[in-house]
Amino acid sequence: MTAQADEPSARDGPATNSSVPLISLRNIQKSFGSVHALRGASVDVHAGEIVALVGDNGAGKSTLVKVMAGVHAADSGEYEIEGRPAIVRTPSDATKHGIATVYQDLALCNNLDAVQNLFLGRELTGSRLFGGRIRRAECEVRAREVMSRMRLSNLSLSRPVGAMSGGQRQNIAIARSVLWKPKVVILDEPTAALSHSAAQQVADLIRSLADDGLGVVVVSHDIHHFVVNSTDRIEVMRLGANAASFRSKDVTGEMVVNAMVGGNEGVNLAG
Ligand SMILES: Nc1ncnc2c1ncn2[C@@H]1O[C@H](COP(=O)(O)OP(=O)(O)O)[C@@H](O)[C@H]1O
Ligand SMILES: [Mg+2]
Repeated sequence: MTAQADEPSARDGPATNSSVPLISLRNIQKSFGSVHALRGASVDVHAGEIVALVGDNGAGKSTLVKVMAGVHAADSGEYEIEGRPAIVRTPSDATKHGIATVYQDLALCNNLDAVQNLFLGRELTGSRLFGGRIRRAECEVRAREVMSRMRLSNLSLSRPVGAMSGGQRQNIAIARSVLWKPKVVILDEPTAALSHSAAQQVADLIRSLADDGLGVVVVSHDIHHFVVNSTDRIEVMRLGANAASFRSKDVTGEMVVNAMVGGNEGVNLAG
């Protein structure tokens, strides 16, 4: 993103969005035995916005997104979806509520091609009469639609994904997460280990999801590039709680890093 800070852009909208969030987690507590991983963490995600979750190792980012995704059940706190209390205590609860997650390991099968990976575990199957055979042609049509909607038509649908670059694999994992039209997508470190240009392509793809009206939550350590340039709002976590909130267009990477390590107590510039 090269938008100037003073240039009106779509990024002005969501950060001041007062509409009901797609999902809202409030005052979440979570312990693992004697480890108190979340101590009253909160996060809101609105339609059309990209929220970055940042913090040092151990700050609780992964635990918070796992609570969001139903991988961990919170010990206490509120979880609301579009303004209504929701029970999200398993991954299938989260899926039912339209929350999709792209984990850092991507969970792609390297020996399979893009179409097979997109439909992994939920292939469109033929009627029982035909032995429930996977309808490859139909999957391919659907895959092609999704890839072209995401401007990924240049990606081969038939090459094993193991032969693809890190950026291409990340894009396929993101395409798979939106195939079933979720409302919220959670991404864990989507630009880690990517070249600058591949990271920019992934950032552009993530922006296009938000432009389509999805809410996006991104855990990222890529503060100086991705976080400050390609997100709308930044939640800084420290010791299991929120330490600061920023509008991405108002801050420098240095300010965010300061908040991560303990400067700017309780800063809230997100409005
Ligand atoms: N499954 C688990 N069992 C025990 N402790 C955990 C587990 N998951 C996370 N923790 C602990 O919770 C704290 C927060 O971890 P995490 O959410 O992974 O932080 P981050 O993603 O910000 O690095 C850390 O002290 C970590 O060791
Ligand atoms: Mg983590």
